Amino acid sequence: MQILLCDSPDHVGRRAADVIEARLRQGPAVLGLATGGSPRTTYKELIRRHQEEQLSFAQATAFTLDEYAGLPPSHEQSYYSTIRREFVDHVDLPLERLITPNGDAPDLVAEANRYDSAISAAGGVDVQVLGIGANGHIGFNEPTSSLDSRTRVKTLTRTTREDNARFFADGQVPRLCLTEGLGTIRDAKLAVLVAMGENKAEAVRLMVEGPVSANCPASVLQMHRHAIIILDPQAAAQLSSLEYYREAQEFNDDLSLRARSAG
Ligand code: PGA
Repeated sequence: MQILLCDSPDHVGRRAADVIEARLRQGPAVLGLATGGSPRTTYKELIRRHQEEQLSFAQATAFTLDEYAGLPPSHEQSYYSTIRREFVDHVDLPLERLITPNGDAPDLVAEANRYDSAISAAGGVDVQVLGIGANGHIGFNEPTSSLDSRTRVKTLTRTTREDNARFFADGQVPRLCLTEGLGTIRDAKLAVLVAMGENKAEAVRLMVEGPVSANCPASVLQMHRHAIIILDPQAAAQLSSLEYYREAQEFNDDLSLRARSAG
């Protein structure tokens, strides 16, 4: 795991945008997009780079991580509508290449299988953006999710429904969802998890320094070939090896600067 310590949520967004931009500049990319508060500064920065620096998503494909079951894509709280509102409608990603699980499909099991097949058919995800829940979930993989799970129907925990109730006018959050599994997420070539705020600090500590455990689903990233964890000071506050992460970060920044000037 590569831990990047940042000064603020905006700084987190810039570092995450750097990683995504670097991949986009290499050619057609398959992006994995998370919804929620955490990636907002990342999307804001990517939109700015699109508008001011011609960063283009025209050759990219994007898969979202999860979706509420029972909501049609047109519902304003569906993750399809949310990712359009918060990111996709502000850049040049072609809408036909924004792919989301259909939470309104008549057969959710078949829809989950179709989704995993669509990701494979696209060549797999190149860069997966992730947030982390206060209970350690990634996507909607709640604690006790199998570390090898694929896209499937899950029951949301009461905590997650309470956390998200603020987005629903009637406070009624669906009980079921479709989510990429921890195995699906682990297949992404690069995972970029962004976290900010003190209510994420314990989950971040368990993810980075705790045991790999289905009780903290994000800890599966310890088994990922290249996971970058980007944190603001509050989210990083409970880590015990901060000094080491800082040193490694300086060393890596130095190496990448040297590589760029050599290139
Ligand atoms: P948040 O949620 O980014 O809105 O804090 C993260 C998550 O629940 O996965």
